[in-house]
Amino acid sequence: MTLQLRVYVPEHPLIQHWLGVARDRHTPSVLFKSAMTELGRWLTYEASRQWLLTGETTVETPLAECPATLIMPDSPMMIVPILRAGLSLLDGAQTLLPLASTYHVGLVRDEETLEASCYLNKLPDQISPQTRILILDPMLATGGSMLTVLEELTKRGADTSLMRIISVVAAHVALQKLSQAYPSLTIYTAAIDEHLNDVGYIVPGLGDAGDRAFGT
Ligand code: PRP
Ligand code: URA
Repeated sequence: MTLQLRVYVPEHPLIQHWLGVARDRHTPSVLFKSAMTELGRWLTYEASRQWLLTGETTVETPLAECPATLIMPDSPMMIVPILRAGLSLLDGAQTLLPLASTYHVGLVRDEETLEASCYLNKLPDQISPQTRILILDPMLATGGSMLTVLEELTKRGADTSLMRIISVVAAHVALQKLSQAYPSLTIYTAAIDEHLNDVGYIVPGLGDAGDRAFGT
């Protein structure tokens, strides 16, 4: 069986609405940040289907015993926001996954070569292959930043089939590269955009996500 990258673009009206707000160049930074929080929340909600580990048990209601399906509190779970822009999705994701530990990775693209370089890596030395990992980065442009993080995660033992990537706008070229390198990945994104401009920005995209989220 050959594996193929799975990319979901949920048709949820809240996701479409907040994407429109984020894309609008007239949206001020404070509202842009809210839009990203909401996108983080609803895309994580969609991604958590058939991904969170649950177990069957029984609980006692005030009236009787009944079966219940509960999230397994001990199943290892990590959130990895890619700084800076990935931080803007974190609040929304964390409200749905309060038991997950957060490990920050800071990357910045060189404006000329578009190569990503790492200035902060808080990943643990070893990662159990059973760990469910949610990676947050709103922009998948060349795909270089995400490939850098995936390499750091897999060399520590993480299993790509248990990862979920949350992005807001993904470019075709990034999806092609990720598909070639890690076909067992699953991505949730609010939109797939056609192309990059000659300085590596997604068109139409939403501009510089980090600058817009932090008002810089
Ligand atoms: C942006 C974005 C991604 C990366 C995507 O980060 O948040 O991490 O670019 O581009 P790529 O797919 O071509 O690697 P940036 O380097 O601008 O840093 P920032 O988040 O601090 O603004
Ligand atoms: N990073 C961004 O913030 N925006 C893009 O369009 C591409 C990379």
